[in-house]
Amino acid sequence: MRAARDAALPDPVARALPLLDPAARPAAPDVRHGYLDLIGDGGSMPSTPAQRLMLSRTLPAVYERWWRPAWGRVLKGAFGSGMRDEHRIARLLLGLTPGDGVLDVACGPGNFTREFAGIVGDGGLAVGIDASPTMLARAVADTGRAGEVVAYVRGDAVRLPFRDASFDAVCCFAALHLFEDPDAALDHMTRVLTPGGRIAILTSCRLQSAPGRAMNDLAGARSGIRLFEPDEIVEGLKDRGYAEVRQRIAGLAQFVGGRLAATG
Ligand SMILES: C[S@@+](CC[C@H](N)C(=O)[O-])C[C@H]1O[C@@H](n2cnc3c(N)ncnc32)[C@H](O)[C@@H]1O
Repeated sequence: MRAARDAALPDPVARALPLLDPAARPAAPDVRHGYLDLIGDGGSMPSTPAQRLMLSRTLPAVYERWWRPAWGRVLKGAFGSGMRDEHRIARLLLGLTPGDGVLDVACGPGNFTREFAGIVGDGGLAVGIDASPTMLARAVADTGRAGEVVAYVRGDAVRLPFRDASFDAVCCFAALHLFEDPDAALDHMTRVLTPGGRIAILTSCRLQSAPGRAMNDLAGARSGIRLFEPDEIVEGLKDRGYAEVRQRIAGLAQFVGGRLAATG
């Protein structure tokens, strides 16, 4: 019965379903909006002011072209890397190859997921998970042909609904600082990675000067955005068994990547 129902689903969604934790797998998958909805109409996510902004109808329309590059400049500084460089760093840290399975955590409008799909190709799968229906609607609309290997899931990016060791690579750009429990998110990202899998994170980095720290604290408290210490994510990855941990700090932002140690 379940096999017959899954056969009617879009191909990438049908391929993503077996990756779901059995407890999270819906008996009747809801794909009405082009993404697999694990939250449903009445569901809501914990929301700070910054998270609520991501639910707006207008932000997804301007996000990729204007909002994200502008925020990138604010965080990384006027001379920091642009969006093209961010994509290059994501590719470098994730080391994707054709056939890989990659999870884009808090994928927003799919601005990175689409590119990952192009790299992993027909034999691979790119899954983007986000809680915002407006962001996901935009992701589905903008994904076009790459959608043949992309499955979008509406769900919690902190407590990931996937089985252990289901992805070769996990990306979480511009979102960890929004989560109410970033440690739990890092635990789950690690749990869903295969041994030897790669992680790439772009998040906040606290300024070290006294006036800078005071400014950080004020801005962070108002917005609900967490500011991580420069060594916090690096140490967090090492503690979770990552090797080859690399970091690049640019202004108020940090890129961190690593490879999960292979077991056995
Ligand atoms: C700034 S966007 C990042 C999008 C994309 N990764 C990028 O780098 O441009 C942050 C995204 O995190 C999502 N988000 C925040 N908290 C979440 C949670 N607990 N579960 C799922 N998505 C969440 C928001 O809906 C939003 O789309």
